[in-house]
Amino acid sequence: MHITFAGVQQSYSKYTEDDHEVWKILYDRQVDNLENKAHPAYLTALEDLFNALHNTKVPNFNEVDKTLLSRTGWSIEVVPGLIPVVEFFELLAIKRFPSSTWLRKKSELDYLEEPDMFHDSFGHLPLLANTDYANFMQKIGLLGIKHKANEDIITKLKSYYWFTIEFGLVKMNEKTGIYGAGLISSYGETNQIYTDKVIVKPFDIEEIINTSFVNSEMQNLYYKVESLNQLYLSIEELERRWS
Ligand SMILES: [Fe+2]
Repeated sequence: MHITFAGVQQSYSKYTEDDHEVWKILYDRQVDNLENKAHPAYLTALEDLFNALHNTKVPNFNEVDKTLLSRTGWSIEVVPGLIPVVEFFELLAIKRFPSSTWLRKKSELDYLEEPDMFHDSFGHLPLLANTDYANFMQKIGLLGIKHKANEDIITKLKSYYWFTIEFGLVKMNEKTGIYGAGLISSYGETNQIYTDKVIVKPFDIEEIINTSFVNSEMQNLYYKVESLNQLYLSIEELERRWS
């Protein structure tokens, strides 16, 4: 296994007062917005990480790592931005989540194009402190490296990741809840799913792995699982199919 980014660190002292302020604005705005929308598993995990991932300043990844490692053995791998998909799966397989360290500017709070650290850390890291979710994420990585030479399977696995980890919805009592990090970290998109601009379909693994996506704009198609348990079991279905 070759991880090319090993050794890159977060240069914490380089964050400016503006960066810390942007983080606080984003964090506070989205925590308010997520009430009754985010799945309780996410909110509980966010609270669990609050000693390190909190609203007062940009999180220090060394601090976040301490809690994550103690909960599930996961930690952060600092990356320069989007990385090749196989390397991405390799990191997940060894329980390292790739995160960038740059933060959007105050003038572009609703920035969406490339994932910044608000997306990567606020969106993705909390649930990695949850054992069931963390195991699920590792299984995606392991499946990816097992089939890394099979372009068709990798494309299907990317769609699966997209419609679950990034933009997944979950039934929450009679309401629609969110657990996908792309939604969790986006004020506008969190609210958009409750409008008639989008289509919400029941979770269908066959359809999901055969559906392509666009990553540079808001989505208009989402899939909703009946429960997070249904989600966790679905990776086993893919393991069987591709065994
Ligand atoms: Fe993401």
